[in-house]
Amino acid sequence: MPIYFDNAATSHPKPPSVIRAVRRALTETNANPGRSGHSAAIEAGRTVLDAREKLAALMDAEDPMNVVHCFNCTDALNLAIKGSLHVGDHVVTTWLEHNAVLRVLSALEQRRRISLTMVPPRPDGFVDPDDIRAALTCQTALIVCTHASNVTGAIQPVAAIGQVARAAGVRYLIDGAQALGGMPVDVKALNCDLYAFPGHKSLLGPQGTGGLYIAPEIRLETLREGGTGTDSHSLAQPDALPERYESGTVNLPGIAGLAAGCDYVAPRLSQIMMHERELTQALLEGLSAMDCVTVYSPAQESGRAGIVSFNVADRPSSQIADALDRQGIAVRGGLHCAPEAHRFLGTLNRGAVRASLGHTNTFDEVEAFLTAVRGML
Ligand SMILES: Cc1ncc(COP(=O)(O)O)c(C=O)c1O
Repeated sequence: MPIYFDNAATSHPKPPSVIRAVRRALTETNANPGRSGHSAAIEAGRTVLDAREKLAALMDAEDPMNVVHCFNCTDALNLAIKGSLHVGDHVVTTWLEHNAVLRVLSALEQRRRISLTMVPPRPDGFVDPDDIRAALTCQTALIVCTHASNVTGAIQPVAAIGQVARAAGVRYLIDGAQALGGMPVDVKALNCDLYAFPGHKSLLGPQGTGGLYIAPEIRLETLREGGTGTDSHSLAQPDALPERYESGTVNLPGIAGLAAGCDYVAPRLSQIMMHERELTQALLEGLSAMDCVTVYSPAQESGRAGIVSFNVADRPSSQIADALDRQGIAVRGGLHCAPEAHRFLGTLNRGAVRASLGHTNTFDEVEAFLTAVRGML
């Protein structure tokens, strides 16, 4: 396998315990959780609950039942956004959002269901909570902000924005795609009502996993209705969590792997965070020292996730990414599904090369990467 610096897209490699858990779910405990009453189905149901408990613990959620399984972070964001909004509502979000937020909101805006205000970051790449406050109107029903930018890695002041939301009585959704599993998350301290996350990035689970934390007092409209294995006599979708939002057969092998990913990450979180921070610092220093390289990630160590975006001279980012690929280094070039972030950085035309680090990357790999980039100058 090449040097893998594309962990912001999906993490690699997955721990052996994750792979074992997926295999076990497909072989030894393969049954439909929450449906039939036989032992294998009960065991499968236990796996789903176990993952929920582990995710809730990682986020400091009050009750595991407030964490619902989704199929990825986009799925969770769709549920949180569409399940929250009504015709005439106003939404405040930021230029740093991924299309998993922006396209959902933009589609609602185009259908004239909602109005939207997008707040730019300050020149340093961080959103100012005062700018969020200033954008609120008496119609504002939702604030959406990313925890960390998937383009620059800049960790946003999500707790302070949460205070703005609380004071204004506005529902608050955080996109945790680049955060949960890579840094501490406490949904209560963040003052958020909804926290969406993928299972396949820093939580080291398989693709096709993710979830949404829903605060106890929040009730969302459902996007999907169907069988839940509960209240089967009734045609009405159940009100109880988590089944209200989990119609149909869940991704048992994925969820089993995600539970193992949580087991791997939880006891090592500070260690993983420190390691990724040190690698990111080395990467950033190495790139910043090169003439003709423009780095877009914030300078301060505590203000960023393990993501470094850059460009080389005036060359297209995809050309650099392809050249690195030919040398056995996997990064992502082009636009990173966050058009307004690229507009802010002035990289809408050529995108940026994104190197995103994971728990198994090494300083030797960072050195090899820097040597490869130097060779392109
Ligand atoms: C900030 C951000 N939000 C949302 C998503 C969507 O995540 P998923 O691919 O799990 O749907 C991503 C994916 O990279 C992301 O970086």
